[in-house]
Amino acid sequence: MILDKMRLDGKVALVTGASRGLGRGMALGLAEAGADLAVVARSLERLEGVAGEVRALGRRCLPLRADVSREEDVKKMVEGVLGRFGRIDVLVNNAGINYREASEDYPLDEWERVLSVNLTGVFLCCREVGRVMIRQRRGKIINVASLTSIIGVRNIPAYSASKGGVAQLTKVLAVEWARYNIQVNAIGPGYFRTDLTEPLFQDPVRREWITSRIPMGRWGTPEDLKGAVVFLASEASDYITGQVLFVDGGWLAG
Ligand SMILES: NC(=O)c1ccc[n+]([C@@H]2O[C@H](COP(=O)([O-])OP(=O)(O)OC[C@H]3O[C@@H](n4cnc5c(N)ncnc54)[C@H](OP(=O)(O)O)[C@@H]3O)[C@@H](O)[C@H]2O)c1
Repeated sequence: MILDKMRLDGKVALVTGASRGLGRGMALGLAEAGADLAVVARSLERLEGVAGEVRALGRRCLPLRADVSREEDVKKMVEGVLGRFGRIDVLVNNAGINYREASEDYPLDEWERVLSVNLTGVFLCCREVGRVMIRQRRGKIINVASLTSIIGVRNIPAYSASKGGVAQLTKVLAVEWARYNIQVNAIGPGYFRTDLTEPLFQDPVRREWITSRIPMGRWGTPEDLKGAVVFLASEASDYITGQVLFVDGGWLAG
C-alpha cells in the first residue's frame, strides 16, 4: 500500500549539516517517518541536542563530528555509521555555507572555501556512501541544491556555482548508479529563515523584496521540507532519479 511505502521503519539515514536549520528539520522528518539517524556537523555540541530530539521520537541516533570538505573526515564518518548501524540507506547532503560579496571583489580564498564545502563536500560524501550503497545494491541520495542552481542571484558567485554543480552532479550520479538501484535526487529550497539567510532577513529592503516575490507570500520553515525529503528517501519514489524538486512557495513558477 502506498502509505506503507512512504514509511522509513528500519532504514538508516545520514544527514550532514544536521545541527540546525534545514538539516535538523529534515533529520527530524526522517525520524518521524521511522528512520534511525546519523547526524553530522563540525560542532558536536549542537548535534547532541538534535540527537536528543531524535531519540525522543523513539529512534536511534548517532551524532558524528566531521567536516565534509575533508576526505579523511568523510571516510571516518562513513566508518562510524557502518560501525554503529551496519548500513546506510539514505544520505542527505545538506551541509552548506555562503559568502556574499560583489563578484569583482570576491576573494579567492572565500571562493575556494564555499566550493570545498558545498560542492567537493557533496562529491566526497556521495562517493564514499555511494560505494556502500553499490555493495548494498540499494540506496537513496538526496542533495540539497537551491534556486541558485538555475537562476542568477547577485553577490553569491561561489554559492551559485556550487549549487549549479550540485544539480549537475546529481544527474551524473543518477545516470551512473541507476543500475545499482540507487536513486540520486536533489531538493531545491527557496527562501527559508535560518542562520544562513539571517543577514537577508534582517535587511528590511531585501526581506520585503524576497517576500513579495514568493507567490505563497511567506518564507519556508524547516517543517516545509519534511514531506519532500521523506518522499525522496522512501520506496514511493523508486522510479524517480536525477531530479531537482523545488520547494519554493512557487518562486520558480512566477
Ligand atoms: N536557508 C535557505 O533559505 C536555503 C535555501 C536554499 C538552499 N539552502 C541550503 O540548505 C542547506 C542548509 O542550509 P541552512 O540554511 O540550514 O544553513 P545553516 O542554518 O547555516 O546550517 C548549516 C549546517 O551545516 C553545517 N556545516 C557547515 N559547514 C560544514 C562542514 N564543512 N562540514 C559539516 N557540516 C557543516 C553546520 O554545522 P557546523 O557549523 O557545526 O558545521 C549546520 O549544521 C545548505 O546546503 C544551503 O545551501 C538553504
